[in-house]
Amino acid sequence: MPVIAVVNRKGGSGKSTLAAHIAAWCARNGSSVMLGDVDRQQSARAWLKRREASLPIIAPWAVDQKNMLRVPTGITHVVLDTPGGMHGFELARVVMFADAIVMPVCHSIFDRESAQACHAELMTMPRVASGRCRLAVVGMRIDARTQAAQVLAEWSESLGVPFLGALRETQLYVRSLERGLTIFDLKPQLAAADLAQWAPILQWLKPQLYPPQAANDGADALRPVARTLAPQKMVSRHLGSLPGSLMPAQESMVQGGRLSALSAGRPATAPVQPAGKPTLVRPARSTDDRQIPEFLKRSG
Ligand SMILES: Nc1ncnc2c1ncn2[C@@H]1O[C@H](COP(=O)(O)OP(=O)(O)O)[C@@H](O)[C@H]1O
Ligand SMILES: [Mg+2]
Repeated sequence: MPVIAVVNRKGGSGKSTLAAHIAAWCARNGSSVMLGDVDRQQSARAWLKRREASLPIIAPWAVDQKNMLRVPTGITHVVLDTPGGMHGFELARVVMFADAIVMPVCHSIFDRESAQACHAELMTMPRVASGRCRLAVVGMRIDARTQAAQVLAEWSESLGVPFLGALRETQLYVRSLERGLTIFDLKPQLAAADLAQWAPILQWLKPQLYPPQAANDGADALRPVARTLAPQKMVSRHLGSLPGSLMPAQESMVQGGRLSALSAGRPATAPVQPAGKPTLVRPARSTDDRQIPEFLKRSG
């Protein structure tokens, strides 16, 4: 089960915005996705409450009576929104389960310095340092008329982290989120410029989220990342610095996700949902539901 976490110490950097959009994209793609809100502010959960039932379904946290968070039966993808200031054990337990971490970074030097400290801590964790949990940066609220994207791209390159491009500042995000929407839920012509900015982000995420599909996309299954990212100018500069870029895909294909593997007596992989309109199987009440131990337990 692929797990994508959105992480940055800095509050207001765009974590909840990115997490909601990644989850909505998965849902639009026909996946049964859960948007987990590790953030006590519960922005993502509040956003889900505003989301109309007619839209592609995104499952919220499922909390049982013992306050244990569970992955509902049938969920195939998990996106984690995380709080600002997360570090130490809290960060480590998210990294333990994440296949990929997307780090939104705004343009100021303060944002870069904060993100750099977060990156340094992440690199002390073997899963990140070895490339088993992949890391990428997305520029947030970037004015295309300035050099901000270039500055961020170069900063990201200096850290050896792929820069997936920048999202502009627009009220479209603010207004969409207020209504429980994302730009993926709008008519494409209303958000064409923003959807175009998402293309390289989604291209990078695709091999993490849909490993077998991504591996079958090209004739050469051993080079899906390089093939798909090559047209992206800014990303391609970093291809050489993607350690073990095929690892999450291979790992998921062979073993299934760690979340699934952790549930004793359950199959290693979640059932694959057919393409088309997403169907979300609601959590069963039985005691053998898949459980995520430790890191999904609420701490307060
Ligand atoms: N690209 C954007 N354009 C305009 N506003 C944005 C954009 N991205 C995020 N925002 C706004 O910035 C604020 C902070 O974003 P949020 O995703 O809540 O950050 P975090 O979760 O890191 O605290 C929110 O009000 C959000 O609507
Ligand atoms: Mg948030």
